[in-house]
Amino acid sequence: MCDKNKALKLAIIGCGAISANAHIPNACKSPLFDVVYLVDKNLELANSQASYFDIPNAVDDFQEIIGKVDAAIVAVPHKLHYDLTIPLLKSGIHVLVEKPMAISFNECQEMIEVAKENKVLLEVGHFRRIQPVFQLAKKIISEQWLGKIESFTAEEGVVFSSPVASAAMFKKEQSGGGVLLDTGPHLLENLLWWFGDYGNLQYWDDACEGVEADCKLELTFDGGVTGSVNFSRLRNLKNQVNVKCEKGSIEIPIGWSEDIILKYDNADYETKVSATNEYTGQGNLGYLYNELEFFASTVLSSDAYFMKAEEAAKTVRLIEQCYANRQNLDLEW
Ligand SMILES: NC(=O)c1ccc[n+]([C@@H]2O[C@H](COP(=O)([O-])OP(=O)(O)OC[C@H]3O[C@@H](n4cnc5c(N)ncnc54)[C@H](O)[C@@H]3O)[C@@H](O)[C@H]2O)c1
Repeated sequence: MCDKNKALKLAIIGCGAISANAHIPNACKSPLFDVVYLVDKNLELANSQASYFDIPNAVDDFQEIIGKVDAAIVAVPHKLHYDLTIPLLKSGIHVLVEKPMAISFNECQEMIEVAKENKVLLEVGHFRRIQPVFQLAKKIISEQWLGKIESFTAEEGVVFSSPVASAAMFKKEQSGGGVLLDTGPHLLENLLWWFGDYGNLQYWDDACEGVEADCKLELTFDGGVTGSVNFSRLRNLKNQVNVKCEKGSIEIPIGWSEDIILKYDNADYETKVSATNEYTGQGNLGYLYNELEFFASTVLSSDAYFMKAEEAAKTVRLIEQCYANRQNLDLEW
């Protein structure tokens, strides 16, 4: 049951998979939020979640929360991120919008401007920024533990099984894209964080007329690091980033393992380094809880950003450039 004396009055907009499994229970658990509204255009779903979590109001139109909450989580189909976030920001509501921040770089820029003009916080759900394993990877790469970074390969993919409440992910007019826009933002944001901005880019996918289920990128970053990335909704991939360095390689897991493996050239041993924090072992519930804490803390008191919206926008710019340069993917398997 939610404690009504908590600090930030919160609305959660979109009661589908991510909200039901993470944002709603997490926000109800946190002493920093008082969850006063659930919003979903599927009112039956909003009502059932509100009743389960003992939240006082369920509505089907987000406009009803304006003037009644301090902050909102926007967790609706990608294409609506911009449409809903702009009026919320204009009404003085702080927003944590799910990834992808929006479906175009122009939309992202406008969201950032409107947040600034209205002096409200806009954060984006890139929780891997606060996941210890990715922070440790950033340190290992920046400090060049295995010498100069040369190249990387990365793959992230599972056979799609998310318990989504709508089919929006598979309809281009609602999603704006497929696996690149859905799975891609987390890893692509990590790569931009670790390696800096990129120069050359090539992109292939299997979209035909619909949304892509498999795609591949090849990138060259400004520092000269080259790499390839595969995303899939149809195949269980390795879910790993493998970084080749001057003196060996670094294996970074994607998921909930916190162990990075350092392999040395010309050595018959390897080293495991781990990064954990108090949320480790709780899967996405833990790190998404931590994300909400950062969001609330930034609104309430300090400059506690885990990531500025400007950085999330760069990920959308990269994705947009991929789609603009699309080539047909050769399905070699
Ligand atoms: N951070 C993460 O790791 C993570 C994980 C999963 C999903 N997401 C993101 O969260 C968003 C939602 O994903 P999901 O898996 O929960 O999808 P979902 O289809 O399960 O849920 C979306 C919900 O939004 C509702 N909705 C649609 N239009 C609406 C409107 N105008 N107003 C109010 N509600 C509306 C739908 O009825 C549905 O219940 C996506 O953008 C996705 O990328 C992020």
